[in-house]
Amino acid sequence: MNNFGNKVIYQIYPKSYKDSNGDGIGDFPGIIEKLPYLANLGIDYIWLNACFVSPQNDNGYDVADYYEIDPTYGTMEDFEHLVHDAKKYHIEIMLDMVFNHTSTQHEWFQKALAGDETYKNYYIWRKGKPSGKPPTNWVSKFGGNTWEYVERYDEYYLHLYDVSQADLNWDNPDVRNEMAKIVDFWMHKGVTGFRFDVVNLISKPETLEDDFEGDGRRFYTDGPHVHEYLRGLNNASFGKIDSLTVGEMSSTSLENCVKYAGENRQELSSVFNFHHLKVDYKHKEKWSLKDFDFQELKDLFITWQEGMQDYDAWNALFWCNHDQPRVVSRFGNDRSYPKESAKMLATALHMMRGIPYIYQGEEIGMTNAYFTDISEYRDVESLNYYDILKKSGKKESEVMHILQERSRDNGRTPMQWDASANAGFSEATPWLQVIKNYKEINVEAALANLDSVFYHYQKLIALRKEYKVIQQGRFVPLAKEHPELFVYKRIF
Ligand code: GLC
Ligand code: CA
Repeated sequence: MNNFGNKVIYQIYPKSYKDSNGDGIGDFPGIIEKLPYLANLGIDYIWLNACFVSPQNDNGYDVADYYEIDPTYGTMEDFEHLVHDAKKYHIEIMLDMVFNHTSTQHEWFQKALAGDETYKNYYIWRKGKPSGKPPTNWVSKFGGNTWEYVERYDEYYLHLYDVSQADLNWDNPDVRNEMAKIVDFWMHKGVTGFRFDVVNLISKPETLEDDFEGDGRRFYTDGPHVHEYLRGLNNASFGKIDSLTVGEMSSTSLENCVKYAGENRQELSSVFNFHHLKVDYKHKEKWSLKDFDFQELKDLFITWQEGMQDYDAWNALFWCNHDQPRVVSRFGNDRSYPKESAKMLATALHMMRGIPYIYQGEEIGMTNAYFTDISEYRDVESLNYYDILKKSGKKESEVMHILQERSRDNGRTPMQWDASANAGFSEATPWLQVIKNYKEINVEAALANLDSVFYHYQKLIALRKEYKVIQQGRFVPLAKEHPELFVYKRIF
């Protein structure tokens, strides 16, 4: 049986971890400097957010070259040092593979635009409707229609995300081979972990039709060939080594996840799903606020814990990432009980069955940013939705309140290392502002206090390493309907 249950993964957003050369942007030498800190915490893997060459329209999730490190983070040698030095601390590197789409700056797309049919077929194109409208009415994840017109072909290309992120055509075997080659290239550099970005969206149906009930996702999520394509990628690349993989599954179902991450399926080691992070969405809509529904949160955890273990499939356990607001501000109380709620949330999560993830700063109880002016935001989604919400008639103050709760920049602010200028993140003005509370909430202060959130996380990791039942035991829920408690036991 696979034993991923003893692993703990720490996620680093390279832009915001530690700047070593004073340009206000985090980099690999900065991460190398912090390896002893991470070893002290006790983690096994570092997942690095997308760090390939990119115009950065979506902070690296618009990849222009999969074979090169973006120069803002350092050189290929810096990356190789990171892999090498991390191994000395028994830490492995997990890279973020953005394979659903490329940047429109990618050579393939540029060739397609220049008329090269071979590369045109790397992407997804359709004719517009006779009425002059785009091929379907689907709504992009970042707002607006999902199709962009290209005059040369009198056709539109599909972009489920930003207009500069063109969806790849995985039905083309050449595309599938390219993807396996990329994974292979990084495996040869000593990378043993891979996170696959929105990978359950890679297989689109043959006929694309209007969605009159939603934004189109029901047609392209967990698509017709997705399991086959993942197995193909596994067999051609990471399946050949002792790897740990995780797929980011957008709006997925349990039925599909037990397949993606099921024992002997030869697809992935584990999956992220996001249902538990929508319990504070009003009418399932990210940009509409409501208080979070505790019973719904519990029910979701129980359903997924039981559902996955029945098939020997593995879930990622996580509260935070670079796309989510901070959990103490969201499901805890960051004003009156910051430390207590951070510890409580950590415990509830880390004792479940699955692979726990700690997102940088979570281990010291970092909070939401509480920015008060739109000029403080950088994220493309936040900026788009600022306009969309304003156009829908909402007042400035209301829109700012929504962004304070929902913006992805809440989780992307620089890591708070100490009480010095810019929280010790950089000597220069950071690319995204440091949160005002850094003088109280920072690594130096946490390490100096044995009762801190940091040591609580350290203990949770140590417990997982020590007890097989935490790694492998069954999850059994108790007091399912209790209005205030979330209770479960782990047993053999
Ligand atoms: C994933 C990433 C997110 C990115 C999107 C498009 O959801 O986590 O940051 O914007 O995919 O690549
Ligand atoms: Ca830098």
